[in-house]
Amino acid sequence: MRTLEWNAESGEMIMIDQRILPARFERVICRTAEDTAEAIRNMTVRGAPAIGVSAAYGMALALLRARTDSADALWAELERAGALLTAARPTAVNLAWAVQRVLAECQPARGSAAALREQVVAVAERMADEDVEVNRRISTFGAELIQDGDTIIHHCNTGALATVDWGTALGVIRMAHEQGKRVHVLVDETRPRLQGARLTAWELSQYRIPYEIISDNMAGHFLRSGQVQKVFFGADRVTANGDVANKIGSYMLALAAHSNHVPVYSVFPTSTVDLSLAHGDLIPIEERDPMEVLGLEFEGQRVTPADAQARNPAFDVTPNHLLTGLVTENGVVYPPFVEHLPRFVRPAA
Ligand code: MRU
Repeated sequence: MRTLEWNAESGEMIMIDQRILPARFERVICRTAEDTAEAIRNMTVRGAPAIGVSAAYGMALALLRARTDSADALWAELERAGALLTAARPTAVNLAWAVQRVLAECQPARGSAAALREQVVAVAERMADEDVEVNRRISTFGAELIQDGDTIIHHCNTGALATVDWGTALGVIRMAHEQGKRVHVLVDETRPRLQGARLTAWELSQYRIPYEIISDNMAGHFLRSGQVQKVFFGADRVTANGDVANKIGSYMLALAAHSNHVPVYSVFPTSTVDLSLAHGDLIPIEERDPMEVLGLEFEGQRVTPADAQARNPAFDVTPNHLLTGLVTENGVVYPPFVEHLPRFVRPAA
């Protein structure tokens, strides 16, 4: 199944529960915009493209559940739900992008309650389908960068689970594998929430792509000893100059790769680009519950002292000079990004 699916009969969204994979494969049903915002916040669904499309469906849920047939009241409800969903997580710009797109594409139906309800579902469905198509286009461009026999370090989870289906950086690796290239993946476990060890490893097992999990602090060793040909990761927000906010640890990985002359590619749909921000220092970085860091157990026991404090930024910014290229659905962007990137960002059709 897709990471997110719409049940047209019941008017509900069904999503894979990413908190408990790979131990259990279960689904969660969202019936309201509030359910959806909570699923985004608690990371039942995660990954920039997946939360964007979830927000679009969340807006559809708001209109289906609203107890009014006044077109004006429904429009106000659409805006309210959009604001709620945009605020669910701050870093990935795909949330705001999706909400703005739903509002823009629902404008023509604003005068009629029935038309508005129909249109919001149609827009969300179209965005879900487009996400899969865009990921395949990204992957076709990205797979050209991979040579037969490459060993690749991948950070976080950027696969089918982080999108509606197929994936971005992991989609590139999957495409190269399907083209018959032999690839080996070193999967960063991605502390503290372990999206790599849990989700990327689970996906690679299903695709039968050879991999080994490494703890995040091992990457430098493999890069320095010449055992890695490329680094691929995703993005949550890319600024006009090509700085990339992505899962915490991406920056350290890019530094180690750059220092060892290993190419680093960030892979994303252009819906992740925020041209309104000049550089990465302007990106809001989500800080999550310290218990995600402190709750770690080792040999059945909590690792940290009971009174320990922790910091937990969920993302960091990789400055553009550490990146070799940016892989989008419109092609691979090379430096100087500030000049080239805007040309790759086309307005939605
Ligand atoms: O906190 P998460 O798991 O939502 O963070 C996800 C990432 O950082 C991904 O690398 C990014 O969203 C790209 S997913 C195609």
